[in-house]
Amino acid sequence: MYNTILTSLENGIFTITINRPDKLNALNKDVFNDLDAVMDEVKNNADIKTVIITGSGTKAFVAGADITEFSSFNKEEAMHLSKRGQDVFFKIENSKKPVVAAVNGFALGGGCELAMACHFRLCSEHAKFGQPEVNLGLVPGYGGTQRLTQLIGKGKSMELQMSAQLIDANEALRLGLVNYVTTAESLLDKTKEILTVIQTKAPVAVGKIIECINVAIVSDSAYTNGKSGYEKEIECFGECFETEDMKEGTAAFVEKRKAIFKGN
Ligand code: COA
Repeated sequence: MYNTILTSLENGIFTITINRPDKLNALNKDVFNDLDAVMDEVKNNADIKTVIITGSGTKAFVAGADITEFSSFNKEEAMHLSKRGQDVFFKIENSKKPVVAAVNGFALGGGCELAMACHFRLCSEHAKFGQPEVNLGLVPGYGGTQRLTQLIGKGKSMELQMSAQLIDANEALRLGLVNYVTTAESLLDKTKEILTVIQTKAPVAVGKIIECINVAIVSDSAYTNGKSGYEKEIECFGECFETEDMKEGTAAFVEKRKAIFKGN
């Protein structure tokens, strides 16, 4: 079904593995097509509750956009590529089902941008992050100038992107780029452990938390539908009162039992 990614579903957790290990999982046109299509599968398959994105092999999560593919582009072609990348990454960022990056090695350029489009990130202790596009005479094109700044602040984002400096896992943790650092062997288990907890919570509310937090960090008014984050929160808070999950959650609290959410 897909050419450049592998997928598996276990206990509601859908794992997407970027699978071009001989090219360090670099993002070419086919990977974008597959990521675009697989996010439709995530949306439409009710058995998928949460998602992990990781890379094939032990060396790289994703070592960037496929440099060989775009080296001869003109301005229009480059802008089209950038828009395509941004749109696919918006699709990941706007997924109502949690998408977490398990960064198992190099996350450079488009790889760092892919990880940052996910809702949060874990990494293995040998992971390396960076936006080295200035080495190629480029700026990041898949949202990196925006999301790295949102995640780690203006000064550090400026420094890393201007210098093309790579940072290791512990620095990524210190800067808030990742939530946890694990051994390579325990990366997926730790990610699944967190997602298993999230899967016990009310799915509609979890989806609305993603929507509200995305509005908090994104200033593009087309993307936020002209609403402030506080307005969005009022709307989502109200909408939760129309869900069976909210009735179940509050009833379970009063009855001193564990809530069983159905996601409606
Ligand atoms: N695009 C296309 N191919 C890439 C790639 C990319 N972003 N990153 C790695 N590859 C390919 C290499 O060309 C090589 O292919 P080959 O075996 O056919 O020659 C293969 O993946 C292995 O990479 P290699 O460079 O030999 O591994 P390394 O361990 O020596 O170095 C990196 C690893 C990540 C430091 C190095 O590959 C690199 O700098 N990659 C580019 C990172 C980058 O600039 N990303 C931003 C792009 S906008």
